[in-house]
This record gives sequence, structure tokens and C-alpha cells, in this order.
Amino acid sequence: MVQLEDQDIGTDLRRTFDWMADRYLEQTKRVSRQLYPRWMEHVMSAIGEFRPHSVADVGCGPGYLLELLAHATPDVHVLGVDYAENMLKHVPASIPTVHQSLEDWSEDDDTAYDVTAMTFVLRDQPDPVTALTQLRRRLAPSGHLVLLETHTPEVGWKRRGFELYFHRLVPMWGDMHWTPDWPGIRDSAPYRRLSETHRVWANKCPLPDAFYEAGFRHAAQYRPSSDVVMLWIADNEA
Ligand SMILES: C[S@@+](CC[C@H](N)C(=O)[O-])C[C@H]1O[C@@H](n2cnc3c(N)ncnc32)[C@H](O)[C@@H]1O
Repeated sequence: MVQLEDQDIGTDLRRTFDWMADRYLEQTKRVSRQLYPRWMEHVMSAIGEFRPHSVADVGCGPGYLLELLAHATPDVHVLGVDYAENMLKHVPASIPTVHQSLEDWSEDDDTAYDVTAMTFVLRDQPDPVTALTQLRRRLAPSGHLVLLETHTPEVGWKRRGFELYFHRLVPMWGDMHWTPDWPGIRDSAPYRRLSETHRVWANKCPLPDAFYEAGFRHAAQYRPSSDVVMLWIADNEA
């Protein structure tokens, strides 16, 4: 775990993920009202449709999706990429991982993947087009990007729940009972920025335009706009 005296943690999102790594999965399941496993099953089946030989999960966190993939398709080469080392410690040793940022990994070598997956990561990237361009660099010409992200539902109780979480609770991140040990500066805790991202995206979602700007040939959305998550599949060139 990152220690209290590690002062820079207050403003560095990578170190925030390192700090939260041990509790990330349990908390994510809880705040999703246990929907997280079902969302990941949906991502899995979307990936499976392409019968890939290789899949890279970028921003894999503690590796929930990687484990599903490794069990369901043991012949497929899977790779986890994450810049938070403590997240990668939770990935089973049998699954290859690289401790790198998306930016560095995208330029690391020319090995191309049939599918790249990215779940709950794009929202944290400073520029969606840059991140998607970096992902595309490691995709085979006939490859596909499967992307899951949080999404402001159009109307109804799901929207109210989403707004309560992202615009009331997340801005207090670092003050709450589940983060009383947060060692950084509370007002500038990087996780609070998630609220701002979702306000901007609710006004104008960067997708699908960002896919096309990044060079993808086609992109389609596979969950209804009333949902709290959006699933996108973007096809590379072929
Ligand atoms: C919210 S977690 C999502 C983890 C996992 N994909 C999931 O769906 O549960 C975001 C993860 O992406 C990683 N991450 C965020 N930006 C990254 C980047 N630019 N390069 C590499 N990893 C990144 C974080 O360290 C963290 O583990």
C-alpha cells in the first residue's frame, strides 16, 4: 500500500489506484449493486464473438475480466496492462501482465492484438482521442476494441442513482467512511474529477466521434441509453 508520507498521492491518479487496489474490486461490486460481474460477462461475450487469438485488457486493474477470459478461453493469449503496480499484484501469476501506462505500452513494440478491451478507464484519460489512438496502434488491422464505460442514463431512477453517486458522493471522495484512511489532500483527491468528466459527457459524450477521430472505421453502441454503463465496439481498418 502507498504510505501516508507519500505526499504526492493527493494529485496523482495512478498512485490513487495503487492506494485503492486492495479494496477496488469489492467496492466496485458494492457501488454497482453487484451488477459489475454481469457487465463483465457482457464484455466477455462481446469479445468472444470475434473468436480472437489474442486479447489485451488495458487498465486491467486487479484482473477480474482477465480471469474470466483465461478460464473461458484458455487457448487465447491474454495480456493485462496497467500503470498501477498494486492492482497487478491481484492478477493471478499465470496471466501475463505489463506494468506500463497506455501511452508507453502503445509504443512498446509492434505485437498486434485481435481485441483490446478497456473497461472503466477512458473516463480517466485526459484526452479520449489520444487514448483511443494509442489503443488502435496495438490492434491488428482486422481487430476490434471492446469498451465499457459508465454512462449517465437519460431518465428515471437509474439517472437519479447515477447522479447521487457521481455528483454527490464521488466529490466527497476522501471524506467518506470507506476512505477515512485517504492520505492525500481531500479537496484535490483525483477521484473527485470523475464527477466533472461525467458532467461533460452527459452534456456531450465524446463517443462515437472520438473513435472516428482516432482512425477506427466503424463504432456501435450495444447497451441502451437508459443504462448506467455503455458498451461500445469499434472496428479497426478491415
Ligand atoms: C477504474 S479502474 C478499472 C479496472 C478494470 N478495468 C475494471 O473494469 O474493473 C481503472 C484502471 O485503469 C488503470 N489506468 C488508468 N489510466 C491508465 C493509463 N493511462 N495507463 C495504464 N493504466 C491506466 C488504473 O490504474 C486502474 O487500475
